[in-house]
Amino acid sequence: MFKDKTVLITGGTGSFGKRFVSHLLQNDTPRRIIIYSRDELKQFEMQQTYDAPCMRYFIGDVRDKHRLKSAMKDVDFVVHAAALKQVPAAEYNPNECIKTNINGAQNVIDAAIETDVRRVIALSTDKAANPVNLYGATKLASDKLFVAANNISGATGPRFAVVRYGNVVGSRGSVVPFYRNLLNEGKDILPVTHAEMTRFWITLDEGVQFVITNFQRMQGGEIFVPKIPSIRILDLVESMSGKKDHEIIGIRPGEKLHEVMVPEEMAHHSLEFDDHYVITPAIKFFDKTVDYKINKLGERGVQVADKFEYHSGTNPHFLTVEELVKLDKETL
Ligand SMILES: NC(=O)c1ccc[n+]([C@@H]2O[C@H](COP(=O)([O-])OP(=O)(O)OC[C@H]3O[C@@H](n4cnc5c(N)ncnc54)[C@H](OP(=O)(O)O)[C@@H]3O)[C@@H](O)[C@H]2O)c1
Repeated sequence: MFKDKTVLITGGTGSFGKRFVSHLLQNDTPRRIIIYSRDELKQFEMQQTYDAPCMRYFIGDVRDKHRLKSAMKDVDFVVHAAALKQVPAAEYNPNECIKTNINGAQNVIDAAIETDVRRVIALSTDKAANPVNLYGATKLASDKLFVAANNISGATGPRFAVVRYGNVVGSRGSVVPFYRNLLNEGKDILPVTHAEMTRFWITLDEGVQFVITNFQRMQGGEIFVPKIPSIRILDLVESMSGKKDHEIIGIRPGEKLHEVMVPEEMAHHSLEFDDHYVITPAIKFFDKTVDYKINKLGERGVQVADKFEYHSGTNPHFLTVEELVKLDKETL
C-alpha cells in the first residue's frame, strides 16, 4: 500500500510512531517517511536506529499550521499520533492540552486539505468515549473534527478516519513500565487505584497493524474500533509481581473504573465486522451514497443490537494471568 508513497507521522518519535516506522521499513518500500515532532533529542535518538535513506526528521509542532503545511508537501498518507496524553497533566494544564489535541488536530486537517494529502488516520483512545477527563474530552473533540473534515475536503480532497483503541501494553508512561520500575527498585507490593478496575488491552504491533489495514478499509468518516481483550488490574499485578497482594491507593482524578470504546448512545450508528466495530458518522457528507456496511476491502458489517455497548468490564474476552505473563515476556 505504501510502495513509492510518502507517509508523514505526527508524533513519530512516540511509542506508536517508532513501531509504525519499523513496520513500514520491514514490510513496505515507501518513498519517504517523515517524522514530525518537537523534541530534537527524541529525534536524534530515533535516528540512531531508524536511519534508512527514506527517513526524514522534521522538527515541528502541530500547533504550527504553516510548518505542518510545508511538511505535508507531496505527502500521500498521514498518521496523526501527536498528542498530550497524560490524564493528570491535562487536568493540571487544560489549555495546553486543548492547544495540542484540538487546535493541533484542526491544523493537521487544514494542512492535509491544503496540500492535497490522500488519506489521514488520527489515533484516538477509549478515553474519548463518554469522557470524564480533559484528555478524553479533547480526543473526542479531535475525533469529531476528523470525521467532519470529510465534508470540508469535498469529493476529491483527502479522506479522514479515526482509529480508537485502549491501553497499549508497555507504551511510554503506562502502567506496565510503571510497575516494572517499582519491581526493579525492590518494591514487592504494587499500588492499585481500585480493585475492580478493568482496561482494554492491545499490543503496539496490533495497534500498528490495525492502522495499516484501516488505510485500506476506509471510505472517510469512520471511527474504527478493534475487537481486543480486556484485563483485570489485579490479574496484571499478579502476572507481574507473582502474587495477588496489592496496596489500594484510591482512584485518581479523571480515572474511570472501566473504559468504553463504543458507547451505548452510539449503538444506532455502529456496525460490527469480524474483528472490529465501526462507528459511522452521525452527519451526512456530500456523498450520500457511501455504504459503510461494505468497506473498501469488501468486508461486510452488520448493525449492532439496540443498547449494545463495547465496555471493558463486560467484554466477553478477558486475558488470564498466564496469558498476561506470556504477553509481558513477548512485549518486553
Ligand atoms: N499509549 C496508549 O496507551 C494509547 C492508547 C490509546 C490511544 N493512544 C493515542 O495514540 C497516539 C500515540 O500515542 P503514543 O503512545 O505513541 O504517545 P507518546 O509515546 O507519548 O508519543 C507522543 C508523540 O507526540 C509528540 N508530540 C507531543 N506534542 C506534540 C506537538 N505539540 N507537536 C508535535 N508533536 C508532538 C511527541 O514528541 P515531542 O514531545 O518531541 O513533540 C511524541 O513523538 C496518541 O494520539 C494517543 O492519544 C495511545
